[in-house]
Amino acid sequence: CLTCVGKILADIISTVEFNHTGELLATGDKGGRVVIFQREQESKNQVHRRGEYNVYSTFQSHEPEFDYLKSLEIEEKINKIRWLPQQNAAYFLLSTNDKTVKLWKVSERDKRPEGYNLKDEEGRLRDPATITTLRVPVLRPMDLMVEATPRRVFANAHTYHINSISVNSDYETYMSADDLRINLWNFEITNQSFNIVDIKPANMEELTEVITAAEFHPHHCNTFVYSSSKGTIRLCDMRASALCDRHTKFFEEPEDPSNRSFFSEIISSISDVKFSHSGRYIMTRDYLTVKVWDLNMENRPIETYQVHDYLRSKLCSLYENDCIFDKFECVWNGSDSVIMTGSYNNFFRMFDRNTKRDVTLEASRENSKPRAILKPRKVCVGGKRRKDEISVDSLDFSKKILHTAWHPSENIIAVAATNNLYIFQDKVN
Ligand SMILES: *[C@@H]1O[C@H](CO)[C@@H](O)[C@H](O)[C@H]1NC(C)=O
Ligand SMILES: *[C@@H]1O[C@H](CO)[C@@H](O)[C@H](O)[C@H]1NC(C)=O
Ligand SMILES: *[C@@H]1O[C@H](CO)[C@@H](O)[C@H](O)[C@H]1NC(C)=O
Ligand SMILES: *[C@@H]1O[C@H](CO)[C@@H](O)[C@H](O)[C@H]1NC(C)=O
Repeated sequence: CLTCVGKILADIISTVEFNHTGELLATGDKGGRVVIFQREQESKNQVHRRGEYNVYSTFQSHEPEFDYLKSLEIEEKINKIRWLPQQNAAYFLLSTNDKTVKLWKVSERDKRPEGYNLKDEEGRLRDPATITTLRVPVLRPMDLMVEATPRRVFANAHTYHINSISVNSDYETYMSADDLRINLWNFEITNQSFNIVDIKPANMEELTEVITAAEFHPHHCNTFVYSSSKGTIRLCDMRASALCDRHTKFFEEPEDPSNRSFFSEIISSISDVKFSHSGRYIMTRDYLTVKVWDLNMENRPIETYQVHDYLRSKLCSLYENDCIFDKFECVWNGSDSVIMTGSYNNFFRMFDRNTKRDVTLEASRENSKPRAILKPRKVCVGGKRRKDEISVDSLDFSKKILHTAWHPSENIIAVAATNNLYIFQDKVN
């Protein structure tokens, strides 16, 4: 039973990410802003408030820019956010737009220095002639302030649009992937990155495939995967060679010839790839399905889940309104036993890998009333529509859930429905 514990109005949300313990939740939006939410601390007399996330910090991560050489506008939209594990009192996260990755430090301040010798309390310089005694500055308590400061800017390394960033398990490096290349960075070095994958053909007219997503293995710092617009996944080992153009493993499911159509190639494009927490499986999302692959089996996925198979007959109109190019993400729950991904009409789907049960839920205003329990929704295909069912023809394709996140150890999920962020959690008692 999921119940809503928070609904936040924002700009159009473009990414959602919990930190490694789930106490912080970061969102990025179309306007280049990052908003960080912090979970309320549990207290004895406020049990019902547990799980509420409140705004902790808001800052402008990216600004619109103009590339004069190419006469191109560079949008400020945040494509991805990735947290670094906490190492000291401050928090660090990476945020990226199409071209530039930034490392942000978010820290708290509740004291301020007072009693300088060379300047007054407002910060104005004092005339040295008036200084007759020496003071010792002191730290005085003040209201808690959360500051975000850009610590590193990793720019000028991507010709195409960045679709993924992933922090390596060595915590010293990360990678950034665009349509044709993947670069490896050291957190300390901003003026240099290593190109680890390059699929740009010598002649761009021969281009048949682009990189759509990439991620490091959660435990093996030498291994990563990337997915492509042709529905394939490549696993690479950086120990094999500096340039990972030759993959170690290649995951692909042969197409069922009976299903071949004009749209086959478009709908097989992978929009997201995620390692399971255990590192044993990879999950991919394409337009109509979610697939789970075993790292030890390359020729077919071990599980395939239909997200919205009823759209198979609607591909023509989804092509005309461009929806067929929507990039849905997918996430695992903390124990890799449940999978969540989005759909249209503000619906999102959950698949239990053990019981094989699945459910369609809706992120809507009605469902965000306190203590309301999310009711399963059902889409009806042809025939007679039962009460509570919704017909395929009345689905709203402008309401789409592309970005979701799952708390790493609890049943708390964050669902971005255009400009609303919903947080649902398992009903307590
Ligand atoms: C996540 O954020 C919380 C702050 O509320 C912090 O205490 C925790 O250490 C962070 N977890 C990690 C692994 O960075
Ligand atoms: C990067 O910057 C460092 C320090 O400023 C410098 O020593 C190094 O040569 C630079 N590397 C490149 C590739 O420009
Ligand atoms: C072929 O289409 C049917 C539904 O029309 C679907 O159930 C099946 O999974 C598809 N096969 C493949 C390999 O995608
Ligand atoms: C994942 O989902 C299953 C099924 O709902 C649940 O039993 C398990 O506790 C979840 N794991 C985590 C870590 O949330």
